[in-house]
Amino acid sequence: MPDVLQDMLRPRGIQAEHILNLWNLTLWICTFVFAAVVLAFIYALWRARNSNPQAAPDLTSLAVPERGVHRIIVWAVALSTAGLVSLLVADVLTGRALAQLPVRDAIHIELVGHDWWWEANYEKDDPAHRFTTANELHLPVGRAAIITLHSADVIHTLWIPNLHGKKDLIPGRTAEIRLRADKEGVYSGQCAEFCGMEHARMGLTVIAESAERYEAWTVAQRRPAASAADAKAAQLPRGMQVFANACAGCHTVRGTPAAGLIGPDLTHLASRQSIAAGMLPNRRGQLAAWVADAPSFKPGTTMPPSTLPPDDLLALMDYMEALK
Ligand code: CUA
Repeated sequence: MPDVLQDMLRPRGIQAEHILNLWNLTLWICTFVFAAVVLAFIYALWRARNSNPQAAPDLTSLAVPERGVHRIIVWAVALSTAGLVSLLVADVLTGRALAQLPVRDAIHIELVGHDWWWEANYEKDDPAHRFTTANELHLPVGRAAIITLHSADVIHTLWIPNLHGKKDLIPGRTAEIRLRADKEGVYSGQCAEFCGMEHARMGLTVIAESAERYEAWTVAQRRPAASAADAKAAQLPRGMQVFANACAGCHTVRGTPAAGLIGPDLTHLASRQSIAAGMLPNRRGQLAAWVADAPSFKPGTTMPPSTLPPDDLLALMDYMEALK
């Protein structure tokens, strides 16, 4: 796997850059205020050293106004107000800049949050181009993506720190986030709203790539799955049979009778970098372990442990590895 970034301080899209600028401004202003308060506090302590607790308090300032102190207070209030107003203005300007992403020829993705994985429907309104995948987004570099957000169960939050801020996925509502990756790379997204036991393991891999590679990927994703007929491995028909009996109730593999809608679409599972919503690398051993006993990795997951005999599990792995 290439280096996976999950870092808002290293923006890889124009919107993350706007957000980082706002963050930097906030950090500097707040650091300045903090330093000023600490210095004033130290100065007060230093002055207090010279006072005598036995002496009567000096109340002359009640009769004679202290012009110096008065001036300092006016300045401090003015500076605080200026600091707060500039943060407010910067916030509004950042919000505007985020909303102004050009979206001509944007790609359209519907992202559905489930306990605890992501369903991605590409170009849903275009029958010739639509396809479904899970837990992995591909984005063409330099081209905007309009991502429509839905939730199938509870509130989740999409956050891909290298590309944009957070957006909630709320049951029964439709939200939208527009973003653009400006540099090639692999970025990690994360559910950012507590949604149950496996909230921390609800990851999303985002692969930003050249227009050509993105097109090639979409062409491959639109194809139905490798069928037993066009594969050479003798185990494949058996693996397919095992899948039909054990997995098809929950999972779809386009081009086969498997059409379950409870779990992720597995049509091109083998093309993905990870499984279990970013938790495990997509390798035969990990996949077999996951299929054998998913709840031991993710307590609470809908996926039950399997009772497959070892031979059937091996045949199933052969079949799943062919789902390229
Ligand atoms: Cu989904 Cu937290």
